[in-house]
Amino acid sequence: MDIEVVRKAPLFSGLDDEATAALLDLMKQSTLHRGSVLFHEGDSGSELYVIVAGKLKLGRSAPDGRENLLSVIGPGEMFGELSLFDPGPRTATVTAISEVTLLGLSNDNLHTWLSGRPDAALNLLQALAARLRRTNDTVGDLVFSDVPGRVAKALLDLATRFGRPAADGVLVAHELTQEELAQLVGASRETVNKALADFAARGWLRLEARAVVLLDMERMSSRAR
Ligand code: CMP
Repeated sequence: MDIEVVRKAPLFSGLDDEATAALLDLMKQSTLHRGSVLFHEGDSGSELYVIVAGKLKLGRSAPDGRENLLSVIGPGEMFGELSLFDPGPRTATVTAISEVTLLGLSNDNLHTWLSGRPDAALNLLQALAARLRRTNDTVGDLVFSDVPGRVAKALLDLATRFGRPAADGVLVAHELTQEELAQLVGASRETVNKALADFAARGWLRLEARAVVLLDMERMSSRAR
């Protein structure tokens, strides 16, 4: 297991070796194949997870069957805590979009471990606050930004988390189909494809299967504003 990746997770941030080891002892490792669903929106939940490797999508369905992606998350990120801290059904369906390795922590073990460790509780609060900040930005973008702006912003966000240097730019292996990318920015596939084709024609990015190479970060950033 890549312990350094796990240490980046908000649950572990700033913890001493004793607290980290105690937490790791309580966590159970599991793997998922691409396309498998870990749990569905509406299920009851009793575990939170930290991603060790791979990527997952968090999706919600409207009553008419349309899908919306809340986020794509990867190594070091935590999820599944909402239905533990605010007991209730899972708020999203979680699906592996690549091979995934996870560490799971049960509600009971989380409570045992957190009691007497106020710093760890603060880490969790900080992670939740950061997520709310990000969600507020996304809601604002849905109201104030056009689709190309939202596509540019989503790609830059994915680049920040998953980007790797390539010969001519930044490779973002987001693992999403164009349909899923459209679900992530809250627009139709046609409009998102048009925006991507336009960015590609301008030389700002290159499209690859389930990935893009961002060639001109500066122009992408100004389009995202
Ligand atoms: P839970 O509701 O237990 O299961 C789905 C998880 O998705 C949820 O906990 C959060 O961890 C995560 N989640 C829900 N909404 C968002 C969001 N807007 N951004 C990122 N993650 C989210």
